[in-house]
Amino acid sequence: MHSPFPYDRLSTLEEFFGREEELEKLSSIVKYSNNLLIHSKRRMGKSSLINYFFEQHKEDYLCIYVDIFDITSKEHFAHSLLKAFSNSHKSDIKTTIKNLTSLFKRVRIEPAIDPITLEYSIKPIVATLSFEEMMDDFFNSLDTLSKSRQIVLAIDEFQQIANITDVKLDAILRKYIQNRENISYIFLGSKRHMLTSLFEYKAPLYELASHYELQPLKVDAIYEYAKRFLDLDADMVTYIYEKSDGETKMVQNILHLLYINKKEKISKELIDEAIKEILNSKDSSYKIIFDTLSNNQKIALKIVGKHKRGFFAAPILNEYNIKKQTLQSAIDALFKKEFIDKDGDKYFIPDRSLELWVENL
Ligand SMILES: Nc1ncnc2c1ncn2[C@@H]1O[C@H](COP(=O)(O)OP(=O)(O)OP(=O)(O)O)[C@@H](O)[C@H]1O
Ligand SMILES: [Mg+2]
Repeated sequence: MHSPFPYDRLSTLEEFFGREEELEKLSSIVKYSNNLLIHSKRRMGKSSLINYFFEQHKEDYLCIYVDIFDITSKEHFAHSLLKAFSNSHKSDIKTTIKNLTSLFKRVRIEPAIDPITLEYSIKPIVATLSFEEMMDDFFNSLDTLSKSRQIVLAIDEFQQIANITDVKLDAILRKYIQNRENISYIFLGSKRHMLTSLFEYKAPLYELASHYELQPLKVDAIYEYAKRFLDLDADMVTYIYEKSDGETKMVQNILHLLYINKKEKISKELIDEAIKEILNSKDSSYKIIFDTLSNNQKIALKIVGKHKRGFFAAPILNEYNIKKQTLQSAIDALFKKEFIDKDGDKYFIPDRSLELWVENL
């Protein structure tokens, strides 16, 4: 069975809705081969947006998408770039191999077949190559291709490069990015502190990309789409949106449950039931996560979940029987672990369903 509301996978072309302004913005950036940094809270729809844009423009540009969420070394990073590049060519396998072989100086390539989907992919063979050799081969090939075609390279979860510490990846990238023509770089990511510090004043990537914060989907856009599949009024969509604090994934998860439970007209009660179902399904995994925290961190997380701001006030400290200093260091620790995040003076838990779970503790 299939529901039109994806929440744990990327949306297909038919399921994608809204985002007209963002798509316009991307179009104008890419058209002039400028660079863009797209950031937002988690699960707002960054990956879905760039994938939809690429799908729309696959005839206009050579679109390369690479997700570096799991990179563990600089070699792994370079290999990921090469793999994405090799698989972005849409011609038949024979032509692709021929083209890539003439583009690469050192990297060899092999066709591979996925045993499950039986789909072909291209495997770059890099075992004997150094990081520098891989990077050179990748960027030189980009350069060559860009003489005849406009290229867009999207690097998702870009903040992960900050975890690679044996080389200055940002400085290395700066060198390649600066000398480009006809190539547009789109950086995407969500860990805002890490990400924005990569682009801050005096950092190597400073001013190499304009910044764009992806906002939640508009309530109207959600309503226009949802009413095609559900019997619901606009104010119910507003209710779902508020409960989800605008997080696209949570909105979609609620709509999905309403859809599969197919009831009459959608009411607040049905929405509350769906939220309860989501929280119940996550209860055991959240308990395990919660148990990894120290006692003071548990208290701090509860306080953040409940109060969001101003929690150093005496009544709150008294209620939870915790000292200001202790609370402060527990909050710092949670922040480091990325359990909590901050927007101005307001703290929040970036995973909205975890936030609701904590509020109910
Ligand atoms: N415009 C959209 N239309 C329909 N569904 C969407 C849209 N944007 C996001 N979604 C859905 O919401 C969920 C979260 O979106 P996505 O994974 O793109 O967010 P993200 O910002 O990349 O998240 P993360 O920070 O975890 O990488 C996905 O299941 C996706 O299918
Ligand atoms: Mg993503």
